[in-house]
Amino acid sequence: MSAHVAPRTRITLAALAAKKAAGEPIVMVTAYDHPSAQIVEAAGVDVVLVGDSAAMTVLGYDSTVPVTTDEMLMLTKAVRRGLAAPLLVGDLPFGSYEASDELAIATAQRFIKEAGCDLVKIERGGTTVDRARALVQAGIPVVGHVGLTPQTATALGGYRAQGRTAEAALAVIDDALALQDAGCSMLVVEAVPSEVTAALVPLLDIPVIGIGAGAEADGQVLVFHDLLGLYDGGAAKFVKRYAELRTAAIRGVEDYAVEVRGGVYPAPEHGYSMTEGEATRLQELLARR
Ligand code: KIV
Repeated sequence: MSAHVAPRTRITLAALAAKKAAGEPIVMVTAYDHPSAQIVEAAGVDVVLVGDSAAMTVLGYDSTVPVTTDEMLMLTKAVRRGLAAPLLVGDLPFGSYEASDELAIATAQRFIKEAGCDLVKIERGGTTVDRARALVQAGIPVVGHVGLTPQTATALGGYRAQGRTAEAALAVIDDALALQDAGCSMLVVEAVPSEVTAALVPLLDIPVIGIGAGAEADGQVLVFHDLLGLYDGGAAKFVKRYAELRTAAIRGVEDYAVEVRGGVYPAPEHGYSMTEGEATRLQELLARR
């Protein structure tokens, strides 16, 4: 079904730290199911996030807010089955961790135990810093997420860049420092000016993964459907499309429909034949009825 791909060494947090130290950019991408996991595995990425962007990209919700823990777990387990080498990050959905340390630990444990995640991601500074500390103390590696945090986009004034004034930038940097201090292993910074990332990265020991945050980050993350052109609808300014798979997929299904309607598909080579002589015997058996 697919070309053979030689197995890679499993990526570890130590390997990411070494990449940061060597100035070697870290490649992170989202995946949401078994085929997308197999694709990103074969492409040799370092980190795979089963983002709650799944709410919009694969489940058809109009924001990330409605997706549930059970929905995210189902998708994350499918990704786990398709991955070998990259680190797998599970994204705790809105409402599944904010209310208490106990809730955060119980939810995160499900992503580690049931879905085989290596780390979990939670959004914002503020009270999330306490949740991050509790998770780390419970032995669960955590990825923080600052800047534009889609789960609370309404409170941030919508899906818009954050940290555009010096004060707002300081608030993003303070959140990032607090999350590192709480023990986070990695940080996602979304939709902030590149000057903010440039100021932030030297202040942090942990890898900083940017999305719409400029080239100064230690690595980049993009949404699978955005980068492959699989999504119907406008993409954010920072998205670069590396393929137009939606167009190709529509064309493929259209061609299939034309061939079925025109009697072209299936051709003889797409079918099976009975064992030699058995078709004649079948006719005889039918005739005797
Ligand atoms: O849910 C997601 O896909 C994310 C990335 C955009 C970082 O949080």
